[in-house]
Order: sequence, then structure tokens, then C-alpha cells
Amino acid sequence: MPRPNTSHASCAGARRCKISVAPERASFAGLFQAVWYLIEAHSHTEESVTFAELDLRVPGASATLMAEHRELDRAYENLKRAFEAEAHVAEPEKFAADLNRFSAAFQTHMNREEDELEPMVWAHFSDEEIHEHRRRIMAADGPEKLLKYFRFVFFALNEQQIAGMLGRLKAMFPEDAYRRAEELAAAASKRRHMRL
Ligand SMILES: [Fe+2]
Repeated sequence: MPRPNTSHASCAGARRCKISVAPERASFAGLFQAVWYLIEAHSHTEESVTFAELDLRVPGASATLMAEHRELDRAYENLKRAFEAEAHVAEPEKFAADLNRFSAAFQTHMNREEDELEPMVWAHFSDEEIHEHRRRIMAADGPEKLLKYFRFVFFALNEQQIAGMLGRLKAMFPEDAYRRAEELAAAASKRRHMRL
């Protein structure tokens, strides 16, 4: 079994952010709950569309990744329970270490999907079919869930990709939800420019 790549442990700052201090704790709690949704959405959307379609053409292709989803779900369930019991306040060092381990395992899983799943999908599906998979995933999630997702995703896109994504969202979102998507995109662009 591959060892987690700890160099990708994006929560490495958790120890430094002093999550036992009240104001930072509140900010950390909000972020944890926002990411919480993304973790749950990750397994569900992939399995219901991408894995299901791939397994029809390449039987068993998703088995390893599906098993990893179950392991990650279990690990995150434990983190959620610890968070709800305020372990991040009572035992911040332990909670941060557990969070780091989860983050590293999740990143390893995402890397495997980039390296193994995506080439298989590209080999067995046309661009039109892949767009249709994405459309089905986005339609099933609906605006409220997608806005939670794009709060983070817009940061990873360049201006051209954001414009393309906003165009797709405009076609499928009600006006109010689309305005909120524009605000998230603008906030992501502003913060990215500040970092440069
Ligand atoms: Fe996955």
C-alpha cells in the first residue's frame, strides 16, 4: 500500500493556527464544515456518474478507487465525530495530526485519480460524452451545492477558465444563484491578484 505523500499535507498549518483560541477556532470551524460538504460530494458524484459509466465499458475499473472512497469516508467520519465532540479544542495537537493524515491520504487519492482514472476516461469516452457526465453531475447537485464547491474551485482556475465556467453556470442557474457565482469568482480573482 502506498505511503501517504506528506509533502502534500495541505492542513500542515493546522497546528500553527492555534485552533484552541476562540476567534481562530470559529474561523476553523466554518472552514471545516465547508470542506466537509466537498468531501462528501466527492465520493457521491464520482461514483454515481463517472465510475458507473466507466465500469460499463471497463468492468471493475473503479474498484480500487471505490475502496479508497470507503476508507476516506470512514476516516472523515471519525474526524467529524472528533470535531463535534470539540476534540480540536480539547486536544488540538492530536486533532491537527489526524487532520494532516487525512489530508495526505485524500491528496494521494486525488493524485491516483489524475494519473489513472482520467487517462482511462479519456481513452474510453469522447469529449461530448465527458461533457455530458459533467452536465449530469452539475444538474444533480443544483445551485446551492455547486456554489459551495465553486467557493474553492474558482481559486484554482485562471481568468479564461473562470469566464468559461461562468458561461456554463449562467445557462443553468437562476439569476440570483448566478449573481452569487459571479461574486465568488470576483472574490477569487481579487485574492489571487493580491497574492501575486
Ligand atoms: Fe475519488
